Amino acid sequence: MRVVILDNKQAVGEYAANIVEEQLAENPDSVLGKATGSTPIPLYQELIRKYEKKELDFSRVITFNLDEYLLLGLNLKLDAKKDQSYHRFMWENFWQHINIKYPENTYILNGLTPNPERHCELYEKQIVKAGGIDLQILGIGSDGHIAFDEPGSSLSSRTRVKYLLFSTLVDNYDAFVKEGGYDFTDMPVFSITEGVGTVMEAKKVILLATGRGKGKALAALVEGPVTSQVTATALQYHRNFTVIADKEAAEGKELTQEKPMKRDGLRDLSRHQYAMRAEKLYSQMQAARIKGATIDDLKTMQKKFLEEILAKNFGGIQELLEAKQKEK
Ligand code: PGA
Repeated sequence: MRVVILDNKQAVGEYAANIVEEQLAENPDSVLGKATGSTPIPLYQELIRKYEKKELDFSRVITFNLDEYLLLGLNLKLDAKKDQSYHRFMWENFWQHINIKYPENTYILNGLTPNPERHCELYEKQIVKAGGIDLQILGIGSDGHIAFDEPGSSLSSRTRVKYLLFSTLVDNYDAFVKEGGYDFTDMPVFSITEGVGTVMEAKKVILLATGRGKGKALAALVEGPVTSQVTATALQYHRNFTVIADKEAAEGKELTQEKPMKRDGLRDLSRHQYAMRAEKLYSQMQAARIKGATIDDLKTMQKKFLEEILAKNFGGIQELLEAKQKEK
């Protein structure tokens, strides 16, 4: 593992963009693995700038995105901020600005698929058919996840449906509630995501980490033991892996026994109990699908689940956010 520490997130984006440029110079038909979230935005901006200056050509590039929210997909009828799908994120922040062949060369999981299991199998086959991922770009969650492989994900997992931890929902509060104008209980409880095993097969991997909120996750990734509780640590086994961090993330505190990775943001429910309830909800949703439930019906099931968790564990959303603040 190589660790590169730079002054700020802009510099991280530029450094990563140069790696992409080298990759495309070596092979204009490269297959790139793409990530969403706030971290890679400076990278995408830099790639767009290079494209506009004619330094980059994406006409032969193929991309595979890591993940998408289950039950969400591109919805052009909505305002950009209201459409919280990762598909829309990629379109707004990257694809529409460059000469990539969209949609034929921009693979992304579809959260609206009627058959998630079959859809995931097909995605794995599409990656293989494209020749595998040459360069994978990753962010890292504050709980140490890569893609949406939350703590507890098998380190050999493949593309599949995975529940989001409650703490991840709280992390994504700003996007969904502040930007999108949704209620907390409208948030997706599941993702459809490449597995850790899928990510590990990329020939080269770069992971970007910026801001103080990523400090603990970065410390665990660089120096902690390999554990499914911090799925990014699987990358310690990767042969061509570079971490690109800004100073703020790199100055993060190490984890100690007394202060585990992160609490769950939940007052009375352990993470395990939450995870088991989410698994049960997914089984119920799959059974409902077979009986003909629509996407809206499934969203209602999720909303009820979150309403119940919120009611039992917190006085209200304000209390939830204060609990999150205290964890930091
Ligand atoms: P972020 O997300 O870049 O928005 O912090 C990172 C992740 O969850 O992988």
